[in-house]
Amino acid sequence: MKELKVELASRSYKIKIGQDVLQDLGQELQSVGFKGKLLIVTDENVSPLYADSCLESLEKSGFQTRVFSIPPGEESKSWMWAEQIFSAALDFNLDRDSGIVALGGGVVGDLAGFIAATYLRGVAYVQVPTTLLAQVDSSVGGKVAINHSRGKNMIGAFYQPRLVLIDLNTLDTLPFRELRSGMAEVIKYGVIRDDIFFKELYRNLVTTLEQEKEFLEYIVFKSCLIKADVVSVDEQEGGVRAILNFGHTLGHALEAATDYKYFNHGEALHYGMLLASRLACREGLLDLKSLNLIEDLLCRIGFKGLPPVLDADKIKKGLTYDKKRKEGKMIFILPERIGRVGIYDSISQEKVDKLLLDFFKEFY
Ligand code: NAD
Ligand code: GLY
Repeated sequence: MKELKVELASRSYKIKIGQDVLQDLGQELQSVGFKGKLLIVTDENVSPLYADSCLESLEKSGFQTRVFSIPPGEESKSWMWAEQIFSAALDFNLDRDSGIVALGGGVVGDLAGFIAATYLRGVAYVQVPTTLLAQVDSSVGGKVAINHSRGKNMIGAFYQPRLVLIDLNTLDTLPFRELRSGMAEVIKYGVIRDDIFFKELYRNLVTTLEQEKEFLEYIVFKSCLIKADVVSVDEQEGGVRAILNFGHTLGHALEAATDYKYFNHGEALHYGMLLASRLACREGLLDLKSLNLIEDLLCRIGFKGLPPVLDADKIKKGLTYDKKRKEGKMIFILPERIGRVGIYDSISQEKVDKLLLDFFKEFY
């Protein structure tokens, strides 16, 4: 098992990565101080696959447990499902000494973390991520949220888990589309922080997509290391943490323009990173050779095309609801070379419009 730590003073916690570690969940939770009752929040795809292993381990360690499953998908990251889980927690008499286990992908992790942050003004929780995207990104760093009809992740908090336990074997059942989605986040880390990691991904992409466990363990560890490093310096995104949003400005806008139904997060991020890299090149920040390498690696993962119709005005509207906007300005994270990005707030609307127009010409 590989281990690393997110250093946040009294809110520090470990990330543990290994195979077949779900069977140790009970002991792991005891070791970080959980006792009493645990509410496992999961989704209807993950529950039949992994809830039993978790329950067995937790019950062996003497925990009283209950499972709550939400329907899979982004639409469940909603106030309506939060309310249902609050009710289940109250019915179970979950108290301040109890805890929550988030077992699933980023949807479950964000929602269960939001419940943990707010139920009884906060109870402890643990992230047990089962998608590659959640293992390399959403389970680490404490961003928890639900969506609002006017925008994604609009209601939430920074609330750190007490532990992140990553079982790589859960990826065996993950649909290929979701694996690719997680790879987009992995590539993000190479571009923003580590050119050597980027080159390793470039050389070993096939191995990853074929799920060779040793290399998967390496990329999950490396991604968590980069994220932990950034979060430790800037927990609440006052500065450097914003670099983790590379590709997200346009990615979120694409998700919003397609009502969060057509793309999954990683697919939208793929286009967001592609566009941000092109924008960086147009601005003279990134050289053409590096742009080609980024585009090539992104294209080699393979992604679904754009929908038959895409409304540019809806994308612009999506950009206006971006949480990262400051004083009406759009914030873009743009690569300056592979392994380094900068935060830019002076890109004009005209340049963004032209970028999108040229991009659409390739598809429509
Ligand atoms: P997801 O949670 O919807 O999971 C994708 C699909 O895979 C779902 O259908 C799920 O049921 C299924 N699944 C999960 N694990 C499985 C397994 N082991 N085997 C088979 N099926 C499995 O999506 P996601 O991509 O994991 O997460 C996306 C969400 O994460 C978005 O809501 C996004 O906003 C959020 N996110 C949050 C952060 C953060 O820092 N908090 C960062 C990135 C993304
Ligand atoms: N996924 C971006 C962040 O955690 O800050």
